[in-house]
Amino acid sequence: MKRILISETSAQVGQKEITVAGWVHARRDMGKITFIDLRDRSGLLQVVFIPSNKELLEQARVLRPEFVVRITGEINARPEHLKNPKLVTGGIEMLATKLEILNESKTPPFEIDKDTAGVNEELRLKYRYLDLRSERMTNNIVQRDKITNSFRDFLRKNDFLEIETPDLVKGTPEGAREFVVPSRLHPGKFYVLPQSPQQFKQLLMVAGLERYFQMARCFRDEDQRGDRQPEFTQVDLEMSFVEREDVISLMEEMVIEVVGKIAPEKRIQQLPFPRITYKDAMEKYGTDRPDVREDKNDPNVLAFCWVIDFPFFEKTADGGWTFTHNPFSRAMPEYHEWLMKKENLGEILTSQYDIVLNGFEIGGGSIRNHQPDALHRVFEVMGFSDESITNQFGHMLEAFEYGAPPHGGLAFGLDRFVAIMCGQPNIREVIAFPKTGDARDPMMGAPSEVPKSTLVEAHISTDI
Ligand code: AMO
Repeated sequence: MKRILISETSAQVGQKEITVAGWVHARRDMGKITFIDLRDRSGLLQVVFIPSNKELLEQARVLRPEFVVRITGEINARPEHLKNPKLVTGGIEMLATKLEILNESKTPPFEIDKDTAGVNEELRLKYRYLDLRSERMTNNIVQRDKITNSFRDFLRKNDFLEIETPDLVKGTPEGAREFVVPSRLHPGKFYVLPQSPQQFKQLLMVAGLERYFQMARCFRDEDQRGDRQPEFTQVDLEMSFVEREDVISLMEEMVIEVVGKIAPEKRIQQLPFPRITYKDAMEKYGTDRPDVREDKNDPNVLAFCWVIDFPFFEKTADGGWTFTHNPFSRAMPEYHEWLMKKENLGEILTSQYDIVLNGFEIGGGSIRNHQPDALHRVFEVMGFSDESITNQFGHMLEAFEYGAPPHGGLAFGLDRFVAIMCGQPNIREVIAFPKTGDARDPMMGAPSEVPKSTLVEAHISTDI
């Protein structure tokens, strides 16, 4: 018999030989009758085992939570008073005529038929494959897929190409500490994992592709927080021949479409999204991630805002200058002269724009510095010697000498956006296999030692 999904059983009332398969969610022995709640990816179905089939009933009494079974039976409408409006299949039940145990299960370390939010997180992560079986976690993963695809649909419709960029790259000072990967073929040399595809997406603009996007994996060796993971996903994009207004308005259009598709019950507080300058945000809210919700108790309110006009540079502890956001950003045009003359550095504003949702920075981007001399000047301001500029950024400066178009873009933190849309307290709840707060994977046991031979091959000595 062909297996059908539980969600399809409601349409099969009166059918005598329907086969379903899944996990035993719960078993209830009610005197002579045994009930099973069977779970598959589409929902729950009540299955009844009755005494007239004694052998089958005895078989059913062996079942324990999380056993994997295939059951064949008859789909009947439930009597009116036993209907359960909370279940998709609440109007029906299956009378079992055949039961096969496909696999047994040990008693799970925590209850899967309840919300696992209160369970010790280390335990949940060690048994993540069980945690993901719980309704809330499954929903989060399903919702994440829908959100990802809504972004993808919008971008493809708007002529963006999905292009992959490498994960073994050269280090850049983009703000975060990088993960280092030793090179076996080049002793003493290292790749790093990308903090973001920033340079590659700009080089794709030089390549003339004009509109790029990617669901990009990014890696940052930072201290963890609820909204930070060492590896995370960006909806990363870049466009040529645009100004700040073009990017901002397209991004608003995208977010409005995605929200409308996946969470029509949510209400966007203000359209177009309000814009707040960095200075006003700091003065009024004391943060550059202002939570502008009028009603913080309404779970359906989405208060987006843009934060703009950030200072380009800030002083470092040793009296030098560093960038506040992205060294590849362009100064706002009215400050270009100051940058070129290296004057009034603390007052230069950048074209950076951050998008904030309910107090979380969910994305950021800028119009880029596509003129090689201006980009060179930024690195000079940051105290790089000519030699180290050539060494670290020579490829970008050189590429920009071959007709780089004006361009700009943005990256959304997908994990953060999904967490907020799903009403989850942190991004680990919407990532299938996240790391712990101290960057471990308790399930796989990463990070871990590797065999000595692997170290030797990678030219690594750990006796420092
Ligand atoms: P930025 O560093 O601001 O910009 O990153 C963009 C967005 O990514 C999310 N994010 C994170 N999410 C989870 N864990 C982390 N550790 C983490 N770090 C950042 C945030 C953030 O707003 N290349 C530029 C983008 C651009 O200019 O186009 C960049 O990476 O939501």
